[in-house]
Amino acid sequence: MLNLAILISGRGSNMKAILEAIRSNKLKGIKKVIVISNKSDAPGLKIARDEFGVQTVAVTTKAKEDFENELLSVLNRYDFGVNDTLICLAGFMRIIGPTIINKFRHKIVNIHPSLLPSFKGLNAQRQALDAGVKISGCTVHFVDTGVDTGPIILQKCVPVLSYDTDQTLSDRILVLEHEAYVTAIELISSNRIKVKNNKVIEN
Ligand code: GRF
Repeated sequence: MLNLAILISGRGSNMKAILEAIRSNKLKGIKKVIVISNKSDAPGLKIARDEFGVQTVAVTTKAKEDFENELLSVLNRYDFGVNDTLICLAGFMRIIGPTIINKFRHKIVNIHPSLLPSFKGLNAQRQALDAGVKISGCTVHFVDTGVDTGPIILQKCVPVLSYDTDQTLSDRILVLEHEAYVTAIELISSNRIKVKNNKVIEN
């Protein structure tokens, strides 16, 4: 059984997909959930609270080190321990520093709207359009100290169409993000994968 700490900064559609999967029992083996945001006005916080009755916390501390400490103390306060917690970054727009990454080694996952290792960082969909690739998609990966570099858990792809805009491509990818994130959490919570030589392999 796994606790989920979902970290968001904005609308929280991936968070919502995860919460819906838990509610409809598609995602089993989840003990409790907390949603944490670095923005107190993130729309996703209200969705988590009002639509799902999930505990939410805003950690708005600006300084990097204070932010990390505050995040750790929230996890501690709500009893999200390192042994049974998965931290899911879902549109979380702050870099998580080495203190937390090393403590929660292979227990932090992120979703990124490109087929990594292509198009890391911001505006991945725009980067894909600018590069003229014909296929893009999304990647769920473990978080390491780099930006969008950790071991890849799973990827889903979509065609890039000649008339695509940032919006149309993002929308097409987002549909698959929601599926991919739930599947990745399921793989982890049911102990079906492990990391070996920096690669994710089946158990
Ligand atoms: C998603 O495209 C995700 O891949 C990226 O940020 C966006 C967050 O969207 N990291 P949402 O807040 O989950 O709707």
